[in-house]
Amino acid sequence: RTVYVNGAYVPEEEARVSVFDRGFLFADGVYEVTSVLDGKLLDFHGHAARLERSLRELDMASPVTMDELLAIHRELVERNGVTEGMVYLQITRGAAADRDFVFPDPDKTPSTLVLFTQSKGLIDSAAARTGIRVISIDDIRWGRRDIKTVQLLYPSMGKMMAKKAGADDAWMVEDGVVTEGTSNNAYIVKGNKIITRHLGTEILHGITRAAVLKFARESQMEIEERPFTIEEAKAADEAFVTSASTFVTPVVAIDGVSLGDGTPGAVARRLREIYIDESR
Ligand code: PDD
Repeated sequence: RTVYVNGAYVPEEEARVSVFDRGFLFADGVYEVTSVLDGKLLDFHGHAARLERSLRELDMASPVTMDELLAIHRELVERNGVTEGMVYLQITRGAAADRDFVFPDPDKTPSTLVLFTQSKGLIDSAAARTGIRVISIDDIRWGRRDIKTVQLLYPSMGKMMAKKAGADDAWMVEDGVVTEGTSNNAYIVKGNKIITRHLGTEILHGITRAAVLKFARESQMEIEERPFTIEEAKAADEAFVTSASTFVTPVVAIDGVSLGDGTPGAVARRLREIYIDESR
């Protein structure tokens, strides 16, 4: 596999990043995951806009323009022959001479840019066919979840707590209401209403979320953007999650409580179909 590191396309075994890189030492970095379908990038411009926002919020600079970034994405997809899967991109504040909590001078310490691809079936997934089971856990992440940083230890622990409990993923709860999934946005369906938390600093502004809500509105579905409790979710007709790597995936149980008849709901299945059709 060819990866991209700071201006060069290199075989993955030869790619190198400094041990002093602030991404490694401080999780001082941001990332994006863009899916690839039929060899084409989905919603690149949405991901690029969110990346620019993440960088701005953290006072970081991109070493390349967004046009150059698009070209790098395409080049890697091409070189690695990816037809279905994703492109991972990470920008960190680079490698300063020493470990220091203070940000280095950006003129002396250029940021680190890394991209790699991952081939993976996105359309035909077991999770989409059977739906996933989630557990609820406390959301103890920091307060700026709208910035897509590489601080992913707690989401990773959440996924492990779910596995230990015999489930697939976790929904995080704060002040009695659901924020989001460990790596996806969360939705419930009640009657003909789709309910999902409104945007703010408490959740990541999903690119898939924006697309799915747009398609749902165009299909005359009713949407309520507001907080919902885990109890409301357990009593919902159906539930689902969205992300670049899972598109729309049905949730069939929450904390062991089956939703509806315990199989993927009609709204989630329809939205997944619409999302895939419209993205192609
Ligand atoms: N995760 N919320 C969180 C906490 C996420 O990590 C993600 C994405 C989303 C969905 O965002 P989008 O629709 O733009 O992918 C919501 C990516 C896929 C990941 O970490 O692999």
